[in-house]
Amino acid sequence: MSTSSAPSGHRLSPAPPSSSPNAGRAGAASRAVLPSLLAPGVERDPYPVYRALREDFPLVHDELLGAWLLSRYADVRAALGDVRFGPAADGPGPAYRRLIEPLLRAAAERTAHVLARRLAGRREVDLVAEFSAWLPAAAAVAALGLPWEDAARVREWCRTGGLARPGGLHPELNGLLRPHVTRRRAHPGADLLSVLCGARVDGQALSNEAVTGLAGTLLTGGGEATALALASFLANLLDHPAQLDLVRTRPGLIPAAWAESLRRDPPTPVVLRRASVPVSLGGTTLPAGAVVACLIGSAGRDPFRFADPDRYDIFRTDPAHLAFGAGRHFCPAATLAGLAAECGLRALLDVMPGLRWAPGFRPAPQGLMARAPRLLLVRP
Ligand code: HEM
Repeated sequence: MSTSSAPSGHRLSPAPPSSSPNAGRAGAASRAVLPSLLAPGVERDPYPVYRALREDFPLVHDELLGAWLLSRYADVRAALGDVRFGPAADGPGPAYRRLIEPLLRAAAERTAHVLARRLAGRREVDLVAEFSAWLPAAAAVAALGLPWEDAARVREWCRTGGLARPGGLHPELNGLLRPHVTRRRAHPGADLLSVLCGARVDGQALSNEAVTGLAGTLLTGGGEATALALASFLANLLDHPAQLDLVRTRPGLIPAAWAESLRRDPPTPVVLRRASVPVSLGGTTLPAGAVVACLIGSAGRDPFRFADPDRYDIFRTDPAHLAFGAGRHFCPAATLAGLAAECGLRALLDVMPGLRWAPGFRPAPQGLMARAPRLLLVRP
C-alpha cells in the first residue's frame, strides 16, 4: 500500500456506529471528513487515524481502499469470529501440531543460541538484520533438517510473501522440498521432515503432497509475521528496561510480555475478510462480497477495552489481544510463533546480559499492513 500520491482525506457519510457497547465515546460524525489510512505519514504513525475512526467512523466504507473499516475492539473481534466473513483455510491441525512443537522448540532454542552467540562481543548490532529477521526461517529449516544454506532462500520467500498460492505449494518451494522428502522416505532420520514422512494421522500415512504442504507452511507461512512481531517484542522490552530486567530474572513472565507486545504492536495490523452473504452490522447492511478491513492495530489500542492502551505493561490485568485473529480462523500457529519469540529472547538475554539500546537510538516502527521497526541498534 503506497502513501505517496493519496489525498489526506475524503468526504463521506459515516455509517451509524455498530451495536457494540461504546457509550461515552466522542459523538459520531463530529469529524465530517474520513481520515485516510493512505495519507502521508500514516505508515509511520497510524494511531491518530485509528482513534478518529474509533470515535467517529466505527463502521464506514472507504472508497479509496474499497473496504469497510472496523476499528473498535468489540466490532473487530466479532467480525473476525463471524463465519459469514470468508471460508476457513487449511492450517496445521492439532494432530500435526503435537508432532511439530517439540522438534520446533528444540530447533528454535539451538538456532537462537547460534545466532545470538555470533553477536556477543560486537560493539554495536542491528538485531533486525542479524537476529529477528532470521530466526523464524532458520529455526524451521533446522527443525526440518534442511541444509543451513536454505535458510537464506526461505527467509527471502518469507519476506516477499511470494509463495502464498491458493490451492497448492509454489513450484519453487515444492522443488526444494521434494528431493528431501524422497531421501527421508528411504533413510529416515530424527528431524521433523522424517517424522512427518513416518507419521500416521487417523491410521493413514501422509502423502508426499501432505508432507511438502505441511513443511512448506512451516517454512514460509507466518515467518514474516513472526519476524516482525519478534522485532516489536524486543523493541518494547528494550524501551522498558525495568520490565526487561523482570523478564530476565523471571522467565515465566515471557508469555505475558509477548502477548502484551502483540496487543500493542501487532505485526499484521489489518486483516482483510470478505462477506460471503449480506451481513447487517449496527443497522448497516454490507452486501455479499463486501471487503471488511478488521483494524487489529486499532482494536488493540481501544481505550474502551484496554486501560491506558498506549502503555506497554506486562502486568496488564485485561489482556486478550486479537493479533492472531479470533474464532474459526484463529491462527493455527500461534503457539509456534510464541515458541520462536520465547527462545529468541532467552538466547539474547543468556548471551548478552547487558543488552541495551545503542546510545541515542530510538526504534521507529513503520508499515500499515506489516508493521515493526526495521532497525534495532543495540549494544550487546
Ligand atoms: C506472530 C506471528 C503470527 C501472527 C501475528 C499471525 C496472525 C494470524 C492472523 C491474524 C490470522 C487470522 C487471519 C484471518 O482471520 O483471516 C492467521 C491465520 C493463519 N496463520 Fe498466522 N500468524 C502468525 C504466525 C503464523 C505461522 C508461524 C504460521 C505457520 C507456520 C501461520 C499460519 C497461519 C494459517 C495457516 C492461518 C489461516 C487459518 C485459518 O484461516 O483458518 N501463522 N494468522
